[in-house]
Amino acid sequence: MKRVFGVFGDPIGHSLSPAMHNAAFSALGMDCIYHAFRVRPENLGKAILGAGAMGFGGLNLTVPLKEEALKLDFIKPDPLAEKIGAINTVVFSETGEIRGYNTDGLGAIQALLDAAVEIEGSKVVVTGAGGAARAVTFQLAAAGAEITVVNRTAERAVELAKDVAAVALPGKISGVGLSGLKELLRDADILINTTTLGMHPNTDTTIATAEELHSELTVFDIVYNPLETRLLKEAKAAGAKTVSGVLMLVYQGAEAFKLWTGAEAPAELMKETVLEALQ
Ligand code: ATR
Repeated sequence: MKRVFGVFGDPIGHSLSPAMHNAAFSALGMDCIYHAFRVRPENLGKAILGAGAMGFGGLNLTVPLKEEALKLDFIKPDPLAEKIGAINTVVFSETGEIRGYNTDGLGAIQALLDAAVEIEGSKVVVTGAGGAARAVTFQLAAAGAEITVVNRTAERAVELAKDVAAVALPGKISGVGLSGLKELLRDADILINTTTLGMHPNTDTTIATAEELHSELTVFDIVYNPLETRLLKEAKAAGAKTVSGVLMLVYQGAEAFKLWTGAEAPAELMKETVLEALQ
């Protein structure tokens, strides 16, 4: 019988995950289907238990459900998801257990590794202090980066840095307000933008311009709609290396795919599928 997988979120109409995972299942000859479901936060518990009862193979969770999922006591979160404070992947085990994972940070790390960017010992500036920043910074700290979180609301950056530092990961981390950004960038190896600046429809906004960037920098924008954000254009103008947010989307999906099926995901095909859908 066909195994069903899905993504829950609200809004969910524009999700690229169904196309990406269905292409992967089909390439590996797996009799599986992946569908998007609009689920409101107040119905999340019922929806996950229902999916489990119907024999779903696994789920992704997206905005605004990732933090909500951690409040559900029937989901057993893995330690990383618990630290991050958000679940983006649910696995229904054969023994009836429901487990929660967060693959967003791993997706970001894999995107950087793909571009042959050194992480251990690198000076990384992360702009933004929301859920995405949380996932990315925990993973970067685990990989030994020296991180400064820069956020419009400075207190959120400080709080995020405190939470990461409390876990005693090999990397170093601190948090500051936006006014410190220019100076930090001068000395940085990697800039990762996790703010919503530049995202459709606000495509003309950017966290930094070419004059504030430099050619030794790698600029990674986790925004992937549009494909080339204003920040990535500014980075190219400054001669910096660029990493597209599409790669994070693909690799977080590939990690989820592996958790559900035990199989290595066809990441290259998933990337092509997403790029095609975004054209
Ligand atoms: P997510 O969970 O997807 O990361 P989020 O929690 O809404 O999303 O976080 C969005 C991030 O973008 C926040 O860090 C936000 O800054 P604040 O914490 O000060 O709100 C940042 N952001 C959004 N719009 C911004 C803007 N115009 N200028 C600077 N930062 C902005």
